Amino acid sequence: MPNKRTPVAVPIPEKPRRFLNAVRAMQENALALLPRIAFTQPIVSGHVVRRFHMVMDPPSLRRILKDKAENYPKSEEAQAMLRPALGNGLFLAEGAHWRWQRRAAMPIFAPRNLTALTPVMTEAAEETSRRIAARPGPQDMYGEMLRTAFDVIAAVSMSSDTAIPREVAHKAIDRYLETAGRASLLDILRVPAFVPRPSRAVAKVIISDLIKATDAAIEARMGREPADPPPLLDLLIGASDPETGRTMTAGELRDNLLTFLVAGHETTALTLSWALYLMAFDEEVQEKARAEAQAVLGDRAAGADDVAGLPYIRQIVLETMRLYPPVAILSRTATEPDMLREREVKRGDVMLLPFYALHRNECIWDEPNAFDPDRFADPKSVDRYAYLPFGAGPRVCLGMDFGMQEAIIVLATLLARFRFTAIPGRDPEPVMILSLRPKGGVWLDVQPLGETAGP
Ligand code: HEM
Repeated sequence: MPNKRTPVAVPIPEKPRRFLNAVRAMQENALALLPRIAFTQPIVSGHVVRRFHMVMDPPSLRRILKDKAENYPKSEEAQAMLRPALGNGLFLAEGAHWRWQRRAAMPIFAPRNLTALTPVMTEAAEETSRRIAARPGPQDMYGEMLRTAFDVIAAVSMSSDTAIPREVAHKAIDRYLETAGRASLLDILRVPAFVPRPSRAVAKVIISDLIKATDAAIEARMGREPADPPPLLDLLIGASDPETGRTMTAGELRDNLLTFLVAGHETTALTLSWALYLMAFDEEVQEKARAEAQAVLGDRAAGADDVAGLPYIRQIVLETMRLYPPVAILSRTATEPDMLREREVKRGDVMLLPFYALHRNECIWDEPNAFDPDRFADPKSVDRYAYLPFGAGPRVCLGMDFGMQEAIIVLATLLARFRFTAIPGRDPEPVMILSLRPKGGVWLDVQPLGETAGP
């Protein structure tokens, strides 16, 4: 049975807000854009400066993201603020340029290669345990998980001798996403320029140290033998387009390296942070998960072979991303007229895909705001297009299995070793800037379980 209380959620106004109030609220929290009916209806259409459709209807989402994906490209406005950092790398490229980069990067994320990447995750889980055990008591687990996820993606991307300093990357990525995020929804809806927002120039300055550090890392690798096992950067240096034989320029390498650092770092850290918040919110679920983790791990950190034996922890990770999808809204532009249900889509319309509202839509889920990992006990019972934390179709997250594996390994290791308890009055507030962040951090009382914790 789900817990009767519900975990923290974004307050949704009962009445629609006036335009300027809505825009002001959106700058603080992009999810303020969502009207109440986005949680009770399949499609909500409207007009701000341009026509938009919010789509929470699984068959329509399938059409936009998969069946007719070529008619719904990523919108240029959504891309504009990300370009200074991600250039024309995998996340932002379209057409042939996207295709060959995706093919080049895909092998490292193929399921058969995941096992080779897992020791890095296990090591990061050990290191996190050491850090948090050293100072039991109230701790911000969001800060900890950002560090853990960065250590993983940095180790997978670069050799340690050429690694980008963690502090440079952290600060830049955090401030950059916040700055870019505040502008991008306003840009997507073409809200007029009299509504102030950060400019691309500001975003560029914020990211400049990270770009310099990335260029230095690439220069240090060029012309050297690949390391063994080769990190992502070395694989990208060696990759070539099967059709033309062309390899990546230094600029393209940088765009992609930054894409992996940005796309793979905060998303996984958010999943882990929200999962730990939920563990403290529902102690019964925490106990059940701990029993599973301890039975499989004893006091070892989790590794690749353990993941299949941790189904309940997997359910918790899935349910966490339902309630708090790290990427809570995607947007696309319609380049051709279309019909979604009985709704007419015109060329140029903005398609908003608010996964936050899809995942809490009353047409789809029972008690949508309740935390209940048992919803995912049989994954086949969940409609593929009702649950989209990783997107879907050709642009589906390339790091999906990687992110899941990392979240399960870190969460299981921590639950087997520590107890997480909520601190009254310190609940996080879900705020979407570009990703769905816990404002104020995830402060929990963390206590090691001690010698008696093992089986
Ligand atoms: C829980 C963790 C993660 C979540 C929730 C997540 C979510 C997403 C979503 C929703 C997209 C689709 C964007 C769109 O269609 O517009 C995406 C794309 C992408 N993600 Fe992830 N992601 C996660 C982890 C990762 C990791 C760990 C990596 C890399 C190591 C990664 C790399 C990428 C890349 C490269 C793309 C662009 C793919 C393309 O356009 O071909 N992600 N991610």
